[in-house]
Parts: sequence; structure tokens; C-alpha cells
Amino acid sequence: MPLLGVNIDHVATIRQARREFDPDPVKAALMCQKAGADSIVAHLREDRRHIHDQDVVRLKKELAIRFNLEMSIAPEIVNIACRLRPVQATLVPERRQELTTEGGLDVIGQFRRLKTACARMQDRGIELSLFIAPDKAQIDKTIALGVGIVEFHTGCYATAKTSTVIKKELHKLTVMTAYARSAGLVVNAGHGLKYDNTRPVAMIPGMYELNIGHSIIAHAVCVGLDRAVKQMRVLASGGTA
Ligand code: PXP
Repeated sequence: MPLLGVNIDHVATIRQARREFDPDPVKAALMCQKAGADSIVAHLREDRRHIHDQDVVRLKKELAIRFNLEMSIAPEIVNIACRLRPVQATLVPERRQELTTEGGLDVIGQFRRLKTACARMQDRGIELSLFIAPDKAQIDKTIALGVGIVEFHTGCYATAKTSTVIKKELHKLTVMTAYARSAGLVVNAGHGLKYDNTRPVAMIPGMYELNIGHSIIAHAVCVGLDRAVKQMRVLASGGTA
């Protein structure tokens, strides 16, 4: 059953609302670790709108569980990753105007740029994951890059409004997970997963890890971080909370 990666970006979003020191995303990450999170994800955006450079340095140093640095392939950020050497880096597309990561990477269109960035990070021993749509052509190009992990963007599933579309999106995720697994890839998924839509994705055979941020931090405001993580941990492993 899948592992749970907790994305702590929105703890930093609250901090940045006042540009002061609290809440501390690293302290929150350590609480998530204690509550049973399998990994911590933080996105160091080029505009530093939430997570900052010092946060990722501290996360790398203080976490006992896997630190997964979410990042674009902007040269400045790749340089930081190469110096920091997180256990894992998840490469995502990034646009300044977006509220959140809106789509998957275009591995086909960005192949050359990705190849250069991936080679630099692989040389530094960083395990790479590409955030892509559940699409065969994108999976094939990921394999061609020598990257061993994909994370499927679950946004279309999460925002689907009718049961027909939800079923169609879930089917696509299921079929593409089987395809990627048969090609030897590790398959993760995330984006827009909430307490009421995570379980079906967790039940997809071969799914390795779900990365979830906004819904956990939002729920934590009402019930506390420990309970919010523990409840999602149960759902992410296919149980009922
Ligand atoms: N995975 C990736 C690659 C993401 O970009 C995000 C959003 O930061 C997430 C997972 C988590 O999405 P959400 O905050 O909607 O749970």
C-alpha cells in the first residue's frame, strides 16, 4: 500500500503572510515525521513565495525520513539542488503566475533541457522523479532520460465533477501506472488529493507513494497537524479514516 509524502509548502505560505518566523515549516515537517509521514516534500520556487533557501538546508539536515525537494529546472535552482543533495528531487514545470503547479512536465518538448539538468543531478547522487501527466508518450520519454520515478499529476481526477469523468480519470491513472510499472518505473501520484478522494488512488495496484499538501495543512488548522497527518496516512494506505 502506498506511502505518504507530506508537502509542507503551505506552512511556509502562512509564515510569509506576515514575513516573520512562524509557523516554522521545519518544525511542522518534524511533527509530520512523528505522525507517520514517510517523506517530506517542499517546493523551492524561483520566486521564493513560500519555502526559502534556509528551509531546505534545515530540512536536509534535520529530517530522518526522506526529503524530496520539488523544483523546476531553472539553472539557479539546479545549482542549489546540486549543492544540497536531497535524497530525492521531483522536477515540475513552474510558472510565476500560477497559484500551484498546474500541469505535468512536457518531457517531450523539454527533453534537451531536462537531459542536461537530470545528468547534473544524477551525477550528484540525487534520485529523480518527474511530475508528468499519466500519458504513455511522456512516460516513454522519462524512461529515455534514465529517470526511475514518475509522479502522476492527479489534478484532472481531483477536479472532475461527474462520476463518469472521475471514473475515466481513475482508469487512466490505473492503466498508466501498470504501464510505467511494467517498464520498471516507481510510480507516485499527487495534486489536489483530499480526505474524500485519496483512497481510490491509494488502491491503484503498483502505486508507491502519494504526495499531499494543501488538504493536510488545511485540515490541520482545525484538528492539529498530528491528527491531520495520521488520518491521511490511513487513507493513503487504502484504509478508512
Ligand atoms: N506533487 C507535486 C509535484 C506538486 O507540485 C504538488 C503541489 O505543490 C503536490 C504534489 C501536492 O498538491 P496538493 O497541495 O494539491 O496536495
